[in-house]
Parts: sequence; C-alpha cells; structure tokens
Amino acid sequence: MKALITAGGHGTRLRPITHTQNKHLIPIANKLMLDYALDYVREAGITEVGIIINAGDKSIEEAFGKGVDRGLNITYITQGAPLGLAHVVKISKEFIGEEPFVFYLGDNILVGGIKRFIDDFNRNGSNCHLVLSRVPDPNRFGVAQVEGERIVSIEEKPEVPKSDLAVTGIYIYDSHIFEAVNNIAPSKRGELEISDAHQYLLDKGYIVSFSEITGWWKDTGKPSDLLEANRLVLDNLVDRRLGDVDNQSSVSGRVNLGRDVKIIRSNIRGPVIIGDNTVIENAYIGPYTAIGRNCRIVSSEVEFSIIMDYCKIENITRRIEASLLGNDVRILRARKKPSTHRFMLGDQSRVEIE
Ligand code: DAU
Repeated sequence: MKALITAGGHGTRLRPITHTQNKHLIPIANKLMLDYALDYVREAGITEVGIIINAGDKSIEEAFGKGVDRGLNITYITQGAPLGLAHVVKISKEFIGEEPFVFYLGDNILVGGIKRFIDDFNRNGSNCHLVLSRVPDPNRFGVAQVEGERIVSIEEKPEVPKSDLAVTGIYIYDSHIFEAVNNIAPSKRGELEISDAHQYLLDKGYIVSFSEITGWWKDTGKPSDLLEANRLVLDNLVDRRLGDVDNQSSVSGRVNLGRDVKIIRSNIRGPVIIGDNTVIENAYIGPYTAIGRNCRIVSSEVEFSIIMDYCKIENITRRIEASLLGNDVRILRARKKPSTHRFMLGDQSRVEIE
C-alpha cells in the first residue's frame, strides 16, 4: 500500500507565518507537522510515500529529501494550483497505480497513528474507508450523516450540518476513487471537493465504511488549532534533560531540554520543550510551551505558546501567552526614551497589547 500526503494548499488562515514558510513545516512540540504524518505512515508499514507540493515550493523536499533516514521512499508530486483535494487525488493516479492507498492530509495530527484504520479498511473490504470525529464546529469540515452503521450523505462545510461527525483528513481508498474524482465538478469556491467524491461513491452504491476516532484529532487550520495541537502533544511529553540547569532555577513537571540549553535563575513548569542552544535567564516558562533552537528568553514570562527558532524575548513585563512566534522574531523592551511601542511587523501580523 502507498500513502499520499498533502503539503500544498493555500495556508491563508495561518498568515503571516505562511508568508515565509509552508504550514506543514510549522513545529508542533518542536517536531515538524509533516513529520507526524510520515511517522504514522511508517508505523503502518508503508514505505512508498507521495507528497503533494505547490509549484515552486522546494522547502518540503529540502526538509525530508528522499526520506531514506526515515525508512521511506518519497516521491514529490507538484500540484500546479491548489484546486482541491479531489484534484490532488486526480493528479496522483500515475504514482498510485491500481492498488488501495491511504490519503492523509498533512495538516492533521492525531494520537495513536493510522494503522488501526487501515486494518478496519481491510477487514471491511470496502471501497472507501473514512475516519470520523465528533466536533463542536462541524461547519468547518466535511460532515457525514450516519444512519445505523451506514453513512448516508457527506457534505463539505455545510451551513446547517446534519450531524457533529467531521470527516477527518485520513482516507483509505481502492481505485474506484479515481472514477469519483473524474466525475465531479468544481464547487462554488472553484475546488474539486473530496466530500463530493465521497458523495459520488455513496450515490453509485460503492461501500463507504468508517471508524470513529475516540482519542484526540486536530486539523491545524487556525493559529488556535496549532496551540491546541501543541498542548495535546506536550501532554505526552517524555522527560529528557540534556541542558544545564543552575542551582537557582527550578524545573518541575515533564520537561524536555535539548543539547546545550542553559537555564539560569529561572522557573520552568512543564510540560515544556526547549530546543538545542536556547538560553532561558531570569524567566518563567509555563505549561504547554514549545521553544525552538537558539532562542534567548531573558527577564520575561512565556506560557502556552509556540516560539520557533532564533527568537529573542527580553525584559517584557507582562506574561506572553497563547502566542505563536515565527523564526527570528524579537520582542524587546525599548532601551531609549520615549518608551513607546515600536513595531516592525510583516503583512498580516497580529499584535495584542494593553
Ligand atoms: O481536516 C479535515 C478536513 O480537510 C475535511 O473535513 C474536509 O472535508 C476537507 O475538505 C479538508 O478541509 P480543509 O478546509 O481543512 O482543507 P484545506 O484546504 O485546509 O487542505 C487540507 C490539506 O490539503 C492541507 O494539507 C493543504 C492541502 N491541500 C489543499 C488543497 C485545497 C493541497 O495540498 N492541495 C489543495 O488543492
């Protein structure tokens, strides 16, 4: 079985971070988002992986190469424009061939991997196996209407959802999906919707089975989803302390400190992960924070946040919370009078101050 993983799309809801970076390379608990997907497919025994990328985007290939060190053989498939998830399937026919395959949306993260769903697909002998999850906001997703053991309809982002069962971004198909994606028309927003392909399979009487996710699953579409995914992954963090903690610091709870981390006169309250070469001095780092490599956090407090590599936060009196900082961001106290707020923010940056 092969796997097809998406790493293209618009990424509009995660701007400005996605102005300079593919969203699938955003770290969740200091591990690249797409690395979770690659781990899940590898754990399921799949080695042949196709990754969908936007035209001209070299960043994914630079990060993962041919996948040899991960025990994978990765093929990159360029999608000329993000014309929808059914379009992704359509252009991947040559890579997939005739065998069943897993289609995995690279911005989905879940606990427990995907092998169990592939087993369900094989057990059911279905043409298409969907993974559903109950959500409070179904109108953001493809929504399945289930009667008894059967899915009777699937709609993409309906205004009035018929259930709270979201179709997650984990799909297992046999080759009938190609018939479906070749027989649907673009939606009002101009995309070939995967939900329409699923509805096509239902209409034609193909067997569409499903599993319901019982643990947590996250589609990391919005900044708040990233923070939530970060929190959920950090909840299972393994304690590992490679850095130096001086005797005036206190480190409690599950904390993962990378190589050459320095904790000086600071209070770290886990779960917290801190990347290699980062210095934390006279600071407080609170629960559910992931700090990247080569950062400096001095005389400041940070909690429930994702701070990427090479950031500096110095002498900030109010606690920084629920924040997402890209690479090489600086938040510093002004040294010269007048003590005004002084910003240099890229397009679509967001700042909240009191
Ligand atoms: O996460 C589950 C949801 O994913 C499903 O419930 C929906 O039915 C499904 O349409 C999809 O909705 P999203 O609005 O979350 O899709 P999004 O545009 O965010 O794209 C999902 C992934 O696919 C993401 O990794 C970006 C990538 N993508 C997207 C499009 C539209 C591509 O690689 N190419 C594309 O053309």
